[in-house]
Amino acid sequence: MTATVQAPFALGTHALTALLGEWRHGGRAHAELAEKLRLLLIDGRIRSGTRLPAEREIAAALGVSRTTIVSAYRRLRERGILYSVQGSGSVLALPPTSAHDDTALPLEIDFSKGTPPAWTELPTFAARALQHLPERMATGGIDLFGLPELRERIAARFTERGAPTSPENILITLGAQHAIALVARTLLGRADRVVVETPGYPHALDAFLSAGARLVASPLTPRGTDARHLEDTMRDARPSLVYLMPDFHNPTGSSLADADRERLLRASSRTGTPLLVDETTAELDIDRPGTTTPFAAFPSHGASLITVGSVSKTVWSGLRIGWIRADRHLIERFALARPAADMGNSVVDQLMATEILPEMPRLLRQRAAQLGVGRDHAVSLLRELLPAWEVPDVHGGLALWVGLGAPLSSALVLSARGRGVTITSGSRFGIDGAFERNIRIPFTAPIPTLTEGIGRLAAAWAAVGTADAGPGRRGAAAEAAFVV
Ligand SMILES: Cc1ncc(COP(=O)(O)O)c(C=O)c1O
Repeated sequence: MTATVQAPFALGTHALTALLGEWRHGGRAHAELAEKLRLLLIDGRIRSGTRLPAEREIAAALGVSRTTIVSAYRRLRERGILYSVQGSGSVLALPPTSAHDDTALPLEIDFSKGTPPAWTELPTFAARALQHLPERMATGGIDLFGLPELRERIAARFTERGAPTSPENILITLGAQHAIALVARTLLGRADRVVVETPGYPHALDAFLSAGARLVASPLTPRGTDARHLEDTMRDARPSLVYLMPDFHNPTGSSLADADRERLLRASSRTGTPLLVDETTAELDIDRPGTTTPFAAFPSHGASLITVGSVSKTVWSGLRIGWIRADRHLIERFALARPAADMGNSVVDQLMATEILPEMPRLLRQRAAQLGVGRDHAVSLLRELLPAWEVPDVHGGLALWVGLGAPLSSALVLSARGRGVTITSGSRFGIDGAFERNIRIPFTAPIPTLTEGIGRLAAAWAAVGTADAGPGRRGAAAEAAFVV
């Protein structure tokens, strides 16, 4: 294979070993290693154009023979995704896209992100917020907890929705991802266990791993969370944290039953394990807007409950405002841990969020209508064009977790890439390469884009396994490592 690569990124043995995680599953070592590397490349966790460590080094780090590595690398070369660059060793890269015939396809379509369009009234509220800026300019500008009036408004919304909350229970963050990472970095020590549901939201898993934690998987059932399994795992694995997405779980869109919430709160209280509840997508109820109840509204039974949320999926992902709701002492710990990585939120963003929060009920009704149109269109088109796929019924959220009926998710990702569609393979939502039988299809794009994108996915699926499935005429963005 010929390809031009300038200045490949180098991946050290240590980083590669961490990315590989548990790659042995009892089969032939070279085949399993090659497959894991292929998945890491396709789902973007290894950037295209990355130089792998020398065979001898990686063999020593993984405790396998050099022949195993040579055979794994040979397999990847045969698949056209590893090649040698003189003086640079072996480079792992997605197949190059060829220059010819690049007029045949219209714009590239990004199905790797489930982000709704910005709320159209945002400029009005931004203008109102700026009127309050002069009074703020007399202060130093840094506040690790966040603007008092925004904390008050967020607390008031929790209270109105059934979870009595005071502003001291709220810390403003730079979105929900920052909130998750801050909780992880503050509460977790090296090798602590965190129970996560699989499939799950990839960047939360990344945050726990970066804090040094080990992940313990609790698989979702076809109906959603397996509360009994979670309860048993809390008892047996003695984790330091359990991470949940109770409403409109990303990627499956499932919701946790009320009885299971109570059950998990009781288990948390018995075992002393805090529950980290991610409500970033909780208010995206399409069929009954405004009716989801915060987890914190259920009787706590003395459990330690930490809720995170943000305005990313309701208002706009570009407004980097999120929050943590927790016991006041924990909130103080989170604030104290902040300066190692950030010095608080922008005052202007916080003023905007303060203006917008009272509008949430109206905004959520508009969102529900908009997301409902996208969902219904995507579901009916997928069922028409791809009748063999399992397309679920979801009542909220941003995406469909579709069953392909065969372990071909990463093959579909490559084939779609050749047709100008970037999409994330199912494996990105799991641990150690699971979920090759699924793909997440967001329904947040405008209708014409959804129509075109799903049409291209159908063409890409028809070509999977044929000579036409590989490098495309015009590649979409090379990697879908960043998934929201
Ligand atoms: C479940 C979940 N949690 C957290 C986030 C991160 O959200 P934010 O943009 O507020 O950081 C996302 C974004 O996709 C998400 O889906």
